[in-house]
Amino acid sequence: MSRSLIIAIDGPAASGKGTLARRLADYYHLPHLDTGLTYRAVAHMLLTKGWPLDDEAHAIEAARLVDLGHLDREGLSAHTVADAASRVAVIAEVRRILVDKQRAFADRDGGAVLDGRDIGTVVCPEAEVKLYVTASAEVRAMRRLRDIEGRGGKADFDEILSDIKLRDERDMGRTDSPLKPAADAHLLDTSEMSIETAFIAAKAIIDDAIAKR
Ligand code: DC
Repeated sequence: MSRSLIIAIDGPAASGKGTLARRLADYYHLPHLDTGLTYRAVAHMLLTKGWPLDDEAHAIEAARLVDLGHLDREGLSAHTVADAASRVAVIAEVRRILVDKQRAFADRDGGAVLDGRDIGTVVCPEAEVKLYVTASAEVRAMRRLRDIEGRGGKADFDEILSDIKLRDERDMGRTDSPLKPAADAHLLDTSEMSIETAFIAAKAIIDDAIAKR
């Protein structure tokens, strides 16, 4: 591989984009950044300090403190953090600060895999491969439920479904960098795909892009 390969993966909550991104990063030996964690880290800081989620000055301060080297997925996985993340993600200055850090990660030699909501449209518009991973809200809610139950937890399907729909609305409806497929993104609807099938489909798209270099 001579040139840096940037793989941009976007999609709504629980679409499977994170799992797919990790597998692809592993396969192509590229570093991976889950950009959702950067928004979660800001939200987590506000929640921990007891600051309101629409407190822009503190959210901006928190965004500046985000360190890509210390993003702890486990510590940021709570449902309250995810919901709060989609709220702080509407603050333009928070986005600007986090996008700068994400671009620095993408610009390293050799390339990278980034997943989020605006990677193909805003963070890495020049990415060589863009995937837009989606699935019906019901399928995503069911996956999330199985995931929680698989870890010994309990949850209610209808509650998860309404949370997912609310987060979709917020992520797709905001004015700054709304979630939407880039014009040149490959759409991957995983509603009826296993992780393995989705990986094979994504790999075919990426190998094709590499072969055309
Ligand atoms: O991918 P995730 O569920 O961890 O993301 C949490 C929230 O962060 C999501 O609801 C919206 C926001 N987000 C964003 O606005 N832009 C990104 N690139 C990634 C996440």
